[in-house]
Amino acid sequence: MAIEVEENRRDFLILATSAFGVAGVAAAAWPFIRSWSPSADVLAQATSEVDISPLQPGQMITVPWQGKPVFVLRRTPEMIASAQKGDSESLPDPAKDADRVKRPELLVLLAVCTHLGCVPQPIGTGDYGGFLCPCHGSHYDTSGRIRKGPAPKNLEVPHYDFKDANTLVIGKALA
Ligand code: FES
Repeated sequence: MAIEVEENRRDFLILATSAFGVAGVAAAAWPFIRSWSPSADVLAQATSEVDISPLQPGQMITVPWQGKPVFVLRRTPEMIASAQKGDSESLPDPAKDADRVKRPELLVLLAVCTHLGCVPQPIGTGDYGGFLCPCHGSHYDTSGRIRKGPAPKNLEVPHYDFKDANTLVIGKALA
């Protein structure tokens, strides 16, 4: 009988110590686990909402997103036709125009030259009706694809979506 009581007491002590240990680890880890979650200001910067309703065909605005400039261009039918014509031409960084836009009339580009990171000039400045990078003369077309000059890659298309017909959301919302 005395042995049984002693065993029960020992089991209880092991259980209590383990539970206390688990709680202690959880309490110690909480500040670290909490730091994995993005803060409110990081969440706010993750996306940029843009009202695209005032944009007329041929007009472009530059909006900030995560500290970088983003071109938002409402393309004219001519700009779209020119971009689609480029699909069948020899491209340094081949990509179809349709794969770079969600709506043919709206082009969204990270305005950071893929050569050394300068900001290209607005639409209509390059040899292909697109964007000229003033630093070393890279020419991007009306789809933001590199056509001439030292830049190795097309202008990047950031992640974006549409909240509604007139609201563009650049970036990915963090859960
Ligand atoms: S940074 Fe644009 S061409 Fe060099």
